[in-house]
Amino acid sequence: MSAESFDANEFRRALGSFATGVTIITTRDTDGVAAGLTVNSFNSVSLNPPLVLWSLSTGSQSLPAFQSAPHWAVHVLAADQHHLSGRFATRGKDKFAGLETDAGIGAVPLLHGCMARFQCRTAFQYEGGDHVIFIGEVLSFDYKNAAPLVFHGGRYAHATVRDPLDLQRAASAGTGIIDDDFLGTQLSRNHFRFFGQLRRALAELQLSEEDFYLLAALADQPGASEAELGESLAGIVDVDARAVSASLMRRGWIQATSSDQNRYELTAAGRAMAVRVANLARALEQQILLRLNPGEAAALKSLLARLQNVIDPAARALWQEKSAAEEIAPAARQ
Ligand SMILES: Cc1cc2nc3c(=O)[nH]c(=O)nc-3n(C[C@H](O)[C@H](O)[C@H](O)COP(=O)(O)O)c2cc1C
Repeated sequence: MSAESFDANEFRRALGSFATGVTIITTRDTDGVAAGLTVNSFNSVSLNPPLVLWSLSTGSQSLPAFQSAPHWAVHVLAADQHHLSGRFATRGKDKFAGLETDAGIGAVPLLHGCMARFQCRTAFQYEGGDHVIFIGEVLSFDYKNAAPLVFHGGRYAHATVRDPLDLQRAASAGTGIIDDDFLGTQLSRNHFRFFGQLRRALAELQLSEEDFYLLAALADQPGASEAELGESLAGIVDVDARAVSASLMRRGWIQATSSDQNRYELTAAGRAMAVRVANLARALEQQILLRLNPGEAAALKSLLARLQNVIDPAARALWQEKSAAEEIAPAARQ
């Protein structure tokens, strides 16, 4: 595509193929009013002297503040700060309302919880088409180990470290289906090991995996019928809701509701047991996820959710409906 025939959207899309981090750049204007915006054009320029750059749209309402400010600060966002990115990319609102900040060099507002912060003195400003390029000398910086927020193709993304065995595994992939590159093998191995550990812990409480899931389902849906319990566990565990509920009832953990004998709820003892096993399962999850790099756990869950979207779209649609209803519910109550 030549310059004359540039389609602006296509150009934007092509630029979006360059994955970047996400930053918020803040300053204080000559009247002392805080200004800031979300920026992904940030980049390093020089190590000695320490220089960084970014570009600001000439249409930005923050332009006068940055053009006159002697100092500004770059905040590199962590993966869990995408809400902050959205807030600082929305014009017309007080972006700092309710935010806790510290005063940096030149009283520039410094945000909390970021992966890295660079406090800069404006060294140069250049015209760059419909943007102004700012080059700053870094006067001070701090950083922490965390998962970065990534922007790619116009969307937020996860960054994960490549497993050094990736290439080896792909290279050794044969035509068989039990090699480690086969998705089915990977999913089965992980499922088998994860539940092997959970089953052992449950066995100590004399609970089966089916008991665990049924208790958990009833904690989420008090008053559910056998059919509803079976439906919500379909595709998770092969459970005979009638037999399992009879067994849980014998042990005094569940009971029929007073209004309908065909619907169940947890007893006080059952609730205590449900809380205990939920804590146990979460602790096991934590133990495993802690051994991954920062961000990998979030990326893993996000990819598995995407996979489910592909493999089992009906279940995902059902789940989305349910969570949308839950989101609406609190407002409807007001
Ligand atoms: C991920 C992301 C990256 C952005 N990068 C830039 C950038 O590099 N330069 C820029 O001028 N605007 C950038 N923007 C847009 C501004 O954040 C947005 O236009 C903001 O509302 C400008 O605020 P203001 O008009 O109050 O200054 C980006 C937005 C997002 C979501």
